[in-house]
Amino acid sequence: MASELTDAIKAKIERLKRYQAIELHLSRVLGGWMPGIAKWEVKKQVAYHLWENMEHSRDVRTRLWELRVTNPDRGVDPQLIAAIEQLALAQHDHEAIAGIYQVWKPALLAAYENYVATTFELYDYPSVMAIKPLIARTREQIAWSKRAVEEMADSGEKRRQGQRWVQFAQDLLKAIGGIDGDGEKSALPVPLPAYGMLLPFSEAKRDSRFTIAIASPPAPEDSDPLAYLVWQFSNYVQEMQAAETLATTLWEVRGIEWEFYYDVARHCWDEVRHSELGENRLNQIGYHIADFPSSIGSYGWRQLFDPAIRYCALTYIIEAGSFKLKHESYQRYLQQNDLESAQAIMYDIMDETMHVRFGQKWVPDLMKHYECQESLDEYIEKCRQIVATHSVAPAQRSAAQSKA
Ligand SMILES: [Fe+2]
Ligand SMILES: [Fe+2]
Repeated sequence: MASELTDAIKAKIERLKRYQAIELHLSRVLGGWMPGIAKWEVKKQVAYHLWENMEHSRDVRTRLWELRVTNPDRGVDPQLIAAIEQLALAQHDHEAIAGIYQVWKPALLAAYENYVATTFELYDYPSVMAIKPLIARTREQIAWSKRAVEEMADSGEKRRQGQRWVQFAQDLLKAIGGIDGDGEKSALPVPLPAYGMLLPFSEAKRDSRFTIAIASPPAPEDSDPLAYLVWQFSNYVQEMQAAETLATTLWEVRGIEWEFYYDVARHCWDEVRHSELGENRLNQIGYHIADFPSSIGSYGWRQLFDPAIRYCALTYIIEAGSFKLKHESYQRYLQQNDLESAQAIMYDIMDETMHVRFGQKWVPDLMKHYECQESLDEYIEKCRQIVATHSVAPAQRSAAQSKA
């Protein structure tokens, strides 16, 4: 009897360990796909969800810590992670979304509901408290995806591809014994014919509303305040590329500690908010983002380098080098009594301060992960040279050169 009870508690804990791992690795697949999603609104929402999933993962891990599990990653079935990574094999963005949101997320939702309904309610109530908000948010994610996939899969051929992919996603889930892992397990299904891995994307995708540009335009003459405002906020829109660089980093960096993914997911979503901050300000003054070319060159050049260099270049050089211009802009908007712009810049400065700290926290670990031999200072200097010679944004290049 005593051992039956211990087994029941252990089984609950094992389930929670799987949930936090599923949220994490679904975020990684979403991150890998995010640059490859064409539709702007879907791309933004996916970035939000990959952060939301990491918050779910954190909430479950916090509860696991209370349950005396100090390392929730230890003992998670490697087949579970392998199955989730197979979801990245989709060939089209609508397939990637459908497999995650219309197969795995509904199964995860059912598992959360079942956990809450069947656990020892009084003794394990903190788990119920942790999981209930996840149920509501997962339900919202699924509802959003129905509309998104309907819009994206807009032909008979795409719908047929989608159905075949959904079946594959179901087969993957079945092979690992379902979300809770208590069903019959088998070898993972063979990938669909001609479905090779497209990730990581070397080029960021945009939808048909946008004209594509490689570089960003230089700052206009100081004497024209409106031109400066439009330049600055249309440049903010292009920070989508920073989000895309970070998103693919989530996918590409395998086997590093959980907290790295948590910080990178937050960083990624922040950059989408910066892009939206630009979009919002342009809308307020009568523009639409598609009135300006959409740059993809910054994402493109960064993909030429490994994730450690990319992340160091972004945080230590590009973000750290952006404060001078931002503080000057802040003062300029205050003088013009443009408080809306000033406020946007000040919130951005605070986010960027945190991003630079993320860089200081993780670059040394990434260097170790990628077995870099240089000292930290040498490595940062190498990244500065890379930005100075490769960046397609004139403001970034000159900031990097001025400190070289
Ligand atoms: Fe930013
Ligand atoms: Fe940033």
